[in-house]
This record gives sequence, structure tokens and C-alpha cells, in this order.
Amino acid sequence: MKDFEGRTAVITGGGSGFGREFARIASSLGMNVVIADVQQDALDAVSSELQDAGTDVLARKVDVSKGDEIEALARATEAMFGDVHLLFNNAGVGSGGLIWENSIRDWEWVLGVNLWGVIHGTRSFVPRMLDAGKRDPNYAGHVVNTASMAGMLNAPNMGIYNVSKHAVVSFSETLFQDLSLIEAPIGASVLCPYFVPTGINESHRNAPDAVKGEPESAAKLAQKLTMSKAVGSGKVSASDVGAMVFEAIRENRFYVFSHPHALGNVETRMQDITAIRNPSDPFAARPDVRTRLRDAMTALAAQAAGGNA
Ligand SMILES: NC(=O)c1ccc[n+]([C@@H]2O[C@H](COP(=O)([O-])OP(=O)(O)OC[C@H]3O[C@@H](n4cnc5c(N)ncnc54)[C@H](O)[C@@H]3O)[C@@H](O)[C@H]2O)c1
Repeated sequence: MKDFEGRTAVITGGGSGFGREFARIASSLGMNVVIADVQQDALDAVSSELQDAGTDVLARKVDVSKGDEIEALARATEAMFGDVHLLFNNAGVGSGGLIWENSIRDWEWVLGVNLWGVIHGTRSFVPRMLDAGKRDPNYAGHVVNTASMAGMLNAPNMGIYNVSKHAVVSFSETLFQDLSLIEAPIGASVLCPYFVPTGINESHRNAPDAVKGEPESAAKLAQKLTMSKAVGSGKVSASDVGAMVFEAIRENRFYVFSHPHALGNVETRMQDITAIRNPSDPFAARPDVRTRLRDAMTALAAQAAGGNA
């Protein structure tokens, strides 16, 4: 996709982080912008910023884990702007903890947003985009799904997130193949960021009350502390990533990595698989991360045991 002006972009998780940057770039390119997010104040802020820049905006409170809300978004988008050209299935939440300790509510929340959000977004918007392609021989569209390096690697203590993001990579590669199979005028990309400062560390702000009310294990708390440090100290910004993604859309490039130098870990994982070797330590290049995580888990477990004594 090379022409953006006057076209329409739909962005889930558009109130913060990467989604807000996609919205800003789409606006700067003269697109109509649809932002969907579960957090109303964030939506309002982005909406007024873009409207002040002269962009036509539809901002809607949507929980991407709910198919009927996404379908209503697709209908509202069609009514306001007609065809959709760019779809960003981007909303996502982070969560940690040892895989056997995570509660069912945790699994349902994170898979609901990270995986079902992408499934619902694709099911509601892609058929409409395909119809647009049939009606207009000049139509060009593109879908970007936000996964993560956690969709390429399996670091310990973040099982639900890893599972959700591996699923998004698989979903997106299949989407790419399916669109190619039918020779659709729609490209696809998967975004795999590493650590980038955004609101992802505070994902619990938007968790359902039942998840917020659950006690947090030492492993989960330790993950929060370790990830806050890793994400907060990231040198690549959300706006850098936004620019990388639009470059990939223009070039019809599928894989988008915010930190290509981290791909050595992916290569090692692939070599483990083809050599039928046990999985390598994904923190091999950063032993400090593993040490920090273990130390925090031990300290928090001791603290909890002291509190319970
Ligand atoms: N920042 C990173 O280091 C990083 C790394 C890898 C992947 N990612 C992925 O990037 C994507 C965007 O996250 P971000 O880093 O910009 O974080 P962010 O918290 O700044 O933005 C995520 C947005 O999604 C919204 N959201 C949360 N639950 C939702 C729901 N149920 N329905 C609709 N919207 C919802 C939030 O309100 C927020 O505005 C996510 O899929 C995340 O997993 C981020």
C-alpha cells in the first residue's frame, strides 16, 4: 500500500503507546482515523489531538476481546468513512507469573485481548476489505497485527503473554498465506517489538475488576519489577516503531522487528529445534536479567512468607 491520503485507518489500542503513534502518522498522511480503546480518557486525548490537526476521527470505546463490540465498530466505521484500507490489530496487555500459578481469569483476560482481539478484528474487517477490493480495481489495503519478540522466543515467567503472542505470529503468517493464496489486494505485516517504553507495564490499569482483585504471587510481582525496568529503559521509542511499521506497509514487508539485533536469540531457538536440542536460555545474552528476576522472586517470596508468619 503506497497511497494513504483520504484513505481510512482503524487502530485498536489507539489511546496509548504504539497505537497512538500509528494514529498520529495516519493523521499526518491525511487519512481518516478510527481509534478503538478500552480506556476512555486516553481515547479522548488522542481524538482531540488528531481533530486539532484537522483529521476526521471516529473514537470509540471498545473491548477488543468482545466480538460484538468489534463488529459494531466495523459498522460504525463503514457508516462514517466507507471502506477501510489499513487495519491495526494492536491492543494488547502484559502479564507475568509462573505458568502453573496463573489463574484462569488471567488466561482469559490476556488471551481475550491479545489473541481474540486479533481474531475479532480480522473477522469483522478483512471480509469488508476484500469486498472493497472486488468493487474497486485500484483498492489496496494492509493489515498489521502487533505481536512481540515474545511471539518468537519463550522467556520464563511470562507464559500467558508468550502463548498469546506466538499465537498472533502464527495467525498473522497464516493470514499472509491466505491473502496470497486468493491474490487479495491486501498486504499483511506482523510487528514484533522488544522492549519499548509505553504504557504496557501498567496493563493492569485496564484489567477486569475480577483480575485486579486477585492476589499477586511473588513471581508475578517480580516480573512486573523486572519488566518495568527493561521496558522503561528501552532506547527505541514508540514513534520510531510507528515509522518502521509505515515503512514496512509501503514496502509490503511482513516481519517488522523493532530490535533486529535481538534476532540472534530467535536463530538460536530455531537451531535448537532443528538440532533437536533442549531450549537454550533466552536470556543467554543478558544474564543480568535472569539474575535480577530470580533475586526479585526470592526477595518477594521471603517478604510474603514474613508477612504471613
Ligand atoms: N511496549 C513494549 O515493549 C511491547 C513489546 C512487545 C509487544 N508489545 C505490544 O504492543 C501492543 C501495544 O501495546 P503498547 O506497548 O503500546 O502498550 P500501551 O499500554 O501503551 O497501549 C495498549 C493500548 O491497548 C489498550 N487496551 C488494553 N486492553 C484493551 C481492550 N480489552 N480493548 C481495547 N483496547 C485495550 C490500552 O488501553 C492501551 O491504550 C500490545 O499488543 C503489546 O502486547 C509491546
